[in-house]
Amino acid sequence: MHKGIAIYPGSFDPTTNGHLDLIERGAKIFEELVVAILRNTEKSPMFSVAERLGMLRELTADLKNVRIDTFDGLMVEYAKSLDATCILRGIRAISDYEYELQMALMNRKLEPTLETVFMMPADKYSYVSSRLVREVAQAGGPVKGLVPEVVEQKLREKLDPAYKLRDVRMLEVLDRKEFDRQERKKRKKKA
Ligand code: PNS
Repeated sequence: MHKGIAIYPGSFDPTTNGHLDLIERGAKIFEELVVAILRNTEKSPMFSVAERLGMLRELTADLKNVRIDTFDGLMVEYAKSLDATCILRGIRAISDYEYELQMALMNRKLEPTLETVFMMPADKYSYVSSRLVREVAQAGGPVKGLVPEVVEQKLREKLDPAYKLRDVRMLEVLDRKEFDRQERKKRKKKA
């Protein structure tokens, strides 16, 4: 186990099973792992920082060496304020590598003593990203297996109007089918 603090920074909007997998792997390697949510006011996130913090805290409650926090500004400055020695980031596919390499080298330029460590989540999550989860959920699609159950529930609550609309449409279709069935019955009787 690596002594000292590692930081796993990100947006976590929302936390996916891939994130959770990486947190569990990181917790086995680092003495202390701080999952740090960026408080970015420029982006318009789906979940507030407080909501993301709450979900992550609930999901990692059993991992005793994992702490959830938020940060603003430069990540390396935040890392220094915690005396962290490593940054943990996940790489799912080659496509992630270019961006991650650029970020790791920029962070090294800003703070040469801070090492970036890359870990791979389980291959079954290699296509899962927060952005795609949001997209699928917003369009009313299923996200089961892609996100933890608590996140799935929060997504459902957040997108309630869409889900309700889908239910109403479903009822309309069922009503129409029932109406057609009754009409067919009447026609049969007359004949
Ligand atoms: O989950 P994400 O959105 O890929 O995480 C990106 C994050 C939060 C790790 C990155 O944007 C970041 O560290 N932002 C803080 C500002 C900063 O330090 N920028 C320079 C990094 S090269």
